[in-house]
Amino acid sequence: MYLSGVNGHAESKPRRSAHVIVCGNEKGGSGKSTTAMHIAVALLKAGYNVATIDLDGRQLSLTRYVENRKRWSKSARIPLDLPRHFHVPPAHRDTVADTESEEFRQLTEGLGEIEDSHDFVVIDTPGSDTFLNRMAHRIADTLVTPMNDSFVDFDVLARIDPVSHEILELSQYATAVRDARRQRRQTDNRIVDWIVVRNRMANISSRNEQKIDTCLRNLSIQLGFRLADGISERVVFREFFPIGLTALDDFEEHVLGSKPTLSHLAARQEIRQLLTALRLPTDEVGRKRAMMRQRYAEAISRPIAMPDIFVS
Ligand SMILES: Nc1ncnc2c1ncn2[C@@H]1O[C@H](COP(=O)(O)OP(=O)(O)O)[C@@H](O)[C@H]1O
Ligand SMILES: [Mg+2]
Repeated sequence: MYLSGVNGHAESKPRRSAHVIVCGNEKGGSGKSTTAMHIAVALLKAGYNVATIDLDGRQLSLTRYVENRKRWSKSARIPLDLPRHFHVPPAHRDTVADTESEEFRQLTEGLGEIEDSHDFVVIDTPGSDTFLNRMAHRIADTLVTPMNDSFVDFDVLARIDPVSHEILELSQYATAVRDARRQRRQTDNRIVDWIVVRNRMANISSRNEQKIDTCLRNLSIQLGFRLADGISERVVFREFFPIGLTALDDFEEHVLGSKPTLSHLAARQEIRQLLTALRLPTDEVGRKRAMMRQRYAEAISRPIAMPDIFVS
């Protein structure tokens, strides 16, 4: 991605290889951190080098999740795959420009350390429109937006007519994503893949949910995102956090700390489906495609003066 002009932060380094996955939605509690952790562990389990970055300096949920995992691995004496993790704390400087500069510096320094040695970087973002959040959306190769299965959360994408359910107006977040994608396309010819996934779905489908589904499908055409199959509301997703486990980990009793249930297996299945839906460049074909895109972008673009993680 091209970032010159953002506070004038521009540097030049060799190109990166890491594919950046951003979990974003300007709404708290939609499942960004949970999804980020599950994607990271799924990729670790598939044998990739994975780094995770927490940009939600207030909540630090992903940071805690990773810490809990490390602790549980130690105390239960079970080997658990861990991502290389760092977080960017909110900077407090006298001016907005200085604050943003400092945050940008921390992000790029952290990225600089991991970009060449990792296949994937999974970035968790805050549920608010911050400078770092905007940066993250501009460097994403894949953007995953989990949203709770209700019209309250639909609002983060668009406002709809309460009776006809027609889309009246795009929301601020959807507009911001659209602009970030446009800009990305213009600068390095990269098409950011945007996937929306409905989270915490009820097991019994209601008329209301069907309406949400119809509206989302309409909107996906208008906004150019893909819709993944949803993830159900399951206690296991909440239970896992304190010991840092995910639905992808082994479900033996000594790992879980309790007996596994059918819900664990169902949760695992849903996460695997999500990973498939993301169509990440995980296989040879994907890798080749990613390389071709890089070459194409190189051939048509001017020298890109920016930290390499921003260019794919
Ligand atoms: N599919 C799910 N089923 C049950 N609880 C969930 C599910 N997804 C997320 N949660 C819980 O919902 C809360 C918010 O999720 P979180 O991932 O922290 O959202 P965000 O990062 O968007 O604020 C957490 O308590 C989390 O454990
Ligand atoms: Mg979070």
